[in-house]
Amino acid sequence: MNLKPIPPERLPELLRRMPKAELHIHIEGSLEPELIFALAQRNGVALPYASVQDLRRAYAFTNLQSFLDIYYAGASVLLKEQDFFDMAWAYLQRAAADHVVHAEIFFDPQTHTARGVAMETVIKGLHRACAQAHTELGVSASLILCFLRHLSEQEAFETLEQALPYRDQFIGVGLDSSEVGHPPEKFARVFARCRELGFHLVAHAGEEGPPAYIWTALDLLKVERIDHGVQSIKDAALMQRLARERIPLTVCPLSNLKLCVFPTLAAHNIGQLLDAGLVATVNSDDPAYFGGYMNDNFVQTFAATGMAAAQAYQLAKNSFEASFIDAAAKRRYVDRLDAAFAEFE
Ligand code: HPA
Ligand code: ZN
Repeated sequence: MNLKPIPPERLPELLRRMPKAELHIHIEGSLEPELIFALAQRNGVALPYASVQDLRRAYAFTNLQSFLDIYYAGASVLLKEQDFFDMAWAYLQRAAADHVVHAEIFFDPQTHTARGVAMETVIKGLHRACAQAHTELGVSASLILCFLRHLSEQEAFETLEQALPYRDQFIGVGLDSSEVGHPPEKFARVFARCRELGFHLVAHAGEEGPPAYIWTALDLLKVERIDHGVQSIKDAALMQRLARERIPLTVCPLSNLKLCVFPTLAAHNIGQLLDAGLVATVNSDDPAYFGGYMNDNFVQTFAATGMAAAQAYQLAKNSFEASFIDAAAKRRYVDRLDAAFAEFE
């Protein structure tokens, strides 16, 4: 793709308009405070916050755990299939407005089954929103079931069993929640089983945890993508491997800023990851908590780091390459990306 020069003041518009895929979004992290309060009222759930403003004030995080405590509390208002649908539909409409044309969406069933919500309720509500996004918004969307790594391997196996009747409604499994102290190898057997079952495999690694967790996610879990992965910069041999094997990283700049993984957005390493030839992508992680959806992540990160149109194109192209859609669909999306750049006046 031959890129024509784009004046810097027009870059935000290009970033907003270009078609892109989102590959790292926790659907429970898209629950806006207004919807938390509306669902709390609808379901008669008491919240330890007096108002939307009071809840928003609590969103001052110092690390991953300080966020997770509030994120799990927010999810406590989700009880009915319609609640899961409403949450996912709100996200998908928001994503479509940002020119997200394909989304692979994480969900945390254990956060809900532990409160007595049936697996069927969770998956059916989310899946119905994905199907409606396809017909009404022209957005393709699929689901990835995440195991909570602070819980046991046995609980992950039980969760997989509960989800198998709905196996046609999710495409893969992932690993999230508290990273440090819960290395990938804790879940090697459950990931091996998921691999036999034909699921796509991903895992959070190298968000706060060391490069060693990225190595073991690759070698022991055999994941196809690394979620976050920004700590790989500390390990030259790992960087070479990620580039050589074209293992994508689903990077989340505003998340990293809000959870103090980097002191400023200007200090974020996504430009260095691209320069090293890694298949890095931009994603929102938990947009309701971290101050931005996809286009906020793109626009703010580019403004802070000085990246330009060439990196914008590369990041959007990487998002399609890194997705779990077939080769023909990837080609169609990259053609649309090329058209968006060619038509940009
Ligand atoms: N890291 C780990 N677990 C998570 C995250 C995250 O960024 N968001 C939601 N669960
Ligand atoms: Zn995440």
